[in-house]
Amino acid sequence: MIGATGQIGSELTQALRERYGHSHVVAGWHIKPLSPDVQGSGPGAFVDCCRMKTLEQTVRKYRIKTIYHLAAVLSAKGETNPLQAWENNMKGLINVLEMARQHGCSVFFPSSIGTFGPSTPLINTPQDTIQRPGTIYGISKVAGELFCDYYHKKYGVDARGLRYPGIISNVTLPGGGTTDYAVEIFYRAIRSGKYTCYLKAGTYLDMMYMPDAISAAVSLMEADGNRLKHRNAYNVSAMSFDPEALAEEIRKHIPNFVMSYKIDPVRQAIADSWPEKMNDSAARKEWGWSARYNIKTMTRDMIRILSARLAPKLCGELLQIR
Ligand code: SER
Repeated sequence: MIGATGQIGSELTQALRERYGHSHVVAGWHIKPLSPDVQGSGPGAFVDCCRMKTLEQTVRKYRIKTIYHLAAVLSAKGETNPLQAWENNMKGLINVLEMARQHGCSVFFPSSIGTFGPSTPLINTPQDTIQRPGTIYGISKVAGELFCDYYHKKYGVDARGLRYPGIISNVTLPGGGTTDYAVEIFYRAIRSGKYTCYLKAGTYLDMMYMPDAISAAVSLMEADGNRLKHRNAYNVSAMSFDPEALAEEIRKHIPNFVMSYKIDPVRQAIADSWPEKMNDSAARKEWGWSARYNIKTMTRDMIRILSARLAPKLCGELLQIR
């Protein structure tokens, strides 16, 4: 696992360990150290995917069969230093694909709603459509999808990918993304009952709860390769909401929750160019994808878990868990 300290990587590492055996999943870390849970439950290795040597040492030492490449600079952060984001995202992936080619590994590559742009149909976004993203993150993810396909066709590398929506989770915070508000809002709602949102009311975006994001990765990687026509990368969709709808859902559990707005023009422009809801029929048909959580069940679960962790006392007074 490259990026085992990140939002998705930290939880995917643990899920893969539960499924395939703790000693069989190596947690790769680079800038941040591994969390105590991840560090204590299986092997870990320093892996800077932009430096082939550290990657190769780990692949050889542990005889890696599948590389989950979860390290990337996200959309909003990427805009602060576009060339650095391009360098990190592309060099990392190309090194991973080269390693996979040389050592016969499979690859999981998370792509994103960020691969779409203003000229894409943003409602019921088709699997195969116009992809002209406006962020360096999106450009690197489109190029990544194409590189994965290229390595599959030219060298037979079994590289598979998903176009993730915004991911909502309660273990590791995201960082530098446009969809991060949908995670931050829960922490603030529970801690202070207030949140200032940087996206406008009416900004509908595709979102997914982490358990579905994990099950999508596992199901795709375990799917029969002969059935996969769109390896890189599948639209996967679960729920679509705007900040108001999420605030309303949170108020069912925290009735006094107050949301205000202070719009960030950079992230607003990015969000406006991303799908409200992707069409994920190819994933459903080719490997049986379907999401379990909607806004209601996700919100209930987020509040239950975070309130137990963040505000055990407050929880009894303010929350009415349904
Ligand atoms: N969550 C990501 C971001 O906001 C999109 O894939 O950048």
